[in-house]
Amino acid sequence: MRIVAEDLTYIYNPASPFAVKALNGVSLTVEEGEFFGIIGHTGSGKSTFVQHLNGLIRLPSSLKKRKRPRGWKNIPPAVLKVGDFDLADPKTDFRALRKSVGMVFQYPEYQLFAETVKEDVAFGLKNFTEKGKAKPTDEEIAAAVKDALHVVGLDEGIAEQSPFDLSGGQRRRVAIAGVIVTRPEVLVLDEPAAGLDPLGKREIMELLHRIHGDWCKTVVIVSHDMDEIAENCTRVAVFSEGRVVRCAPPAELFKDAASLLALGLDIPLTAKLTLALEKRGISIDCDYTMKDFVRRVLARKGGGQ
Ligand SMILES: Nc1ncnc2c1ncn2[C@@H]1O[C@H](COP(=O)(O)OP(=O)(O)O)[C@@H](O)[C@H]1O
Ligand SMILES: [Mg+2]
Repeated sequence: MRIVAEDLTYIYNPASPFAVKALNGVSLTVEEGEFFGIIGHTGSGKSTFVQHLNGLIRLPSSLKKRKRPRGWKNIPPAVLKVGDFDLADPKTDFRALRKSVGMVFQYPEYQLFAETVKEDVAFGLKNFTEKGKAKPTDEEIAAAVKDALHVVGLDEGIAEQSPFDLSGGQRRRVAIAGVIVTRPEVLVLDEPAAGLDPLGKREIMELLHRIHGDWCKTVVIVSHDMDEIAENCTRVAVFSEGRVVRCAPPAELFKDAASLLALGLDIPLTAKLTLALEKRGISIDCDYTMKDFVRRVLARKGGGQ
């Protein structure tokens, strides 16, 4: 499913003195199959944007007129499509959309509530039975939970435990399992590795790669970690003040490190090293993955410089 946004605007608390324009004309396209990154300063609109993708935040045009808050009537018409779902259209089946687009919020482990891991992961599945379809049987649920736990790298033994007895990283993986168990085509994660230690981060990124492709065709992640972005993403959108100011593959984006630094953003370690070497007259033309960086540095060394 392709994601297309054109001119998306969103105002929190419209028609009040506390109105905040969180999105101010966001336009971007995510192709099916991408591992797409979203970066940007705190408050630039990343979370507000991704919450639109499964209809958690609705476009004004998709709500009945009487449900639209005052202050929204001046918002220009926008386009938001996820595959065949037209999110600007009130006739869209938002329940079916939520099944196709899985959403992992920031710190999702705080939303675990069931007594066992198994029940927590199964919750989404029981909740998402489509209209007109039979409810999954207990055996089907058990099999789906087992598969989901397996793909997030947790062993089956954990299924009977309380989520509260697990480590932070394990709890987060349980929360992710609870979203992917419905096999959404698109998986959206808001800062999936935030607050974890380096090992926990690596495990999350590894599991996202396992999920991407066979399990969820398209993955969209919001991240602050530029190394993570450089290593993993097909393309990256840079948000600033509620707009997309750049959208490019990491290899292109990080070439222009100065403009990211000017936005107050970090750059990957490989880009920092490239800049430091440039100051000494050594130019390294890499794609900013660590592997490519090292390979190119070694190639120069081999060349006798
Ligand atoms: N629930 C809310 N109510 C009011 N303002 C909000 C709310 N959520 C976010 N905002 C504001 O909207 C803007 C964009 O926020 P957000 O989408 O959370 O950005 P990011 O995820 O990039 O940090 C910020 O100015 C933020 O303070
Ligand atoms: Mg955010």
